[in-house]
Amino acid sequence: MHIKLLDVETINKIAAGEVVEGPASIVKELVENSIDAKSGMITVEIKEGGTEFIRITDNGCGIEREDIELAFTSHATSKIEDVLDLFSIMSLGFRGEALASIAAVSRVELITKTASGIVGTRAVYEGGRMISIEDIGAPSGTTIIVRDLFFNTPARRKFLKSKASEGGKVGSIVEELSFSHPEIAFRFISDGQNKLTTYGNDNVRENIYAVYGKEYASNLIEVCGGNEYVKISGFIGKPIINRGSRACMNYFVNHRYIKAEVIRTAIEAAYSGFVMQHRYPFTMLYLDVDPRIIDINIHPRKMELKFQTDIDVWQLIYDICLQALSNSNLIWRENTSRDENPKAVVEQKQVVPQPVVESKPVVESKPVVESKPVASIQTEVPKVSEAPEVSEAPEAPEAPVVPEASYVQSLSAPLDVRIESFETKRSSQYTRYVATKEDISDDEIKEQLSLFEKKDKNEINPDDIHIVGQVF
Ligand SMILES: Nc1ncnc2c1ncn2[C@@H]1O[C@H](COP(=O)(O)OP(=O)(O)OP(=O)(O)O)[C@@H](O)[C@H]1O
Ligand SMILES: [Mg+2]
Repeated sequence: MHIKLLDVETINKIAAGEVVEGPASIVKELVENSIDAKSGMITVEIKEGGTEFIRITDNGCGIEREDIELAFTSHATSKIEDVLDLFSIMSLGFRGEALASIAAVSRVELITKTASGIVGTRAVYEGGRMISIEDIGAPSGTTIIVRDLFFNTPARRKFLKSKASEGGKVGSIVEELSFSHPEIAFRFISDGQNKLTTYGNDNVRENIYAVYGKEYASNLIEVCGGNEYVKISGFIGKPIINRGSRACMNYFVNHRYIKAEVIRTAIEAAYSGFVMQHRYPFTMLYLDVDPRIIDINIHPRKMELKFQTDIDVWQLIYDICLQALSNSNLIWRENTSRDENPKAVVEQKQVVPQPVVESKPVVESKPVVESKPVASIQTEVPKVSEAPEVSEAPEAPEAPVVPEASYVQSLSAPLDVRIESFETKRSSQYTRYVATKEDISDDEIKEQLSLFEKKDKNEINPDDIHIVGQVF
């Protein structure tokens, strides 16, 4: 068989496969363009899971009429000029491929106007070819409508999942994008129904409330720290809101939602003394990274990222998460009747970070689940019996989980609070306070703990106790 050069249309269709997997990847690319265009408000609308209709509207800088043709040409971009720019890049796009790829496999309508333009422009593309271009009255910003995805590549259309499944993926990507830029107001509408609204007031906790609900929003630990290359901020969830999958581990690098092994394993390692095996935390971490130490040009979808100095980033994330977990009050209350189970207030503290030799430590012990009866001060160290195997639970319901640990001692407080000390497999220590009486107020608990004689430096500092626990 002779070797032939492929025609441009075929080349573009093949290249489109790298960028356009389905409606969610189109939404990601178009919203990222809107973000790069400095929009303050972005609306995403889809019909039938996005397979028939996607509309992204922004109020960003718009595209000049004479640039439209280039915008839809492969390898044409306004975001970099040469390869060196990749090492100082702060924009989400840089490949100059997304619009060309999307237009190659769908029918695209673009309406755009710059702030200084007198009129807007409407351009229509079908299968990568421009069909029409004309003046149109329009507000400043850009609207892109994508219809009939894969109309000219039926083989690829067959790979689309059900409309509900594709629509779900779009919803998730919009949520991630909205968290990546909390200063932008997002709206997501699916088949005429409003699914998500964020207000763009830079309030991450409020957005967590809107997307994940009250239980998550009220069980967050704020984190902050870093070094000269990496600044970390955001929230991590208290261990009680752990999940059976990694779906809630969100982290962003330079406001880009990505997947990075080094970040994931560092977070999981920090939580390993706090949650059971196969349970995963909630995180909403923001890494502001010097672009010189990262390479985002690994995959056409720009979802993966490489750090130049993996190990330092790993250690930094691990230390910051572990410190946040160790210093905060991981208290919760159980709203059960006294007969079945005493109302409980639980705190974990005094976790001592251990040197880490592996990138993903695995804790093998079983969780402590039993609650000891109130006891007087014990001198011997009773061993906690092995708890039954806990199989991987479905996403809900989320139950409070006591970290894997062995029981060290139980001390009776003067009145209605029992104090139990635990040592985890990784030699971390934590203490839990169990209220043994119903209707005990937070102030009473603090008062009683303050009466408790301090035994050693790991003992309770009543000033540290803030009972903020969720009522279960
Ligand atoms: N919503 C928008 N508002 C303003 N300009 C836009 C918008 N969408 C696209 N553009 C312009 O069109 C160009 C091409 O967009 P396209 O997404 O194809 O490439 P890119 O964003 O530069 O790189 P990448 O392929 O990595 O996304 C952009 O560089 C930008 O100048
Ligand atoms: Mg782009």
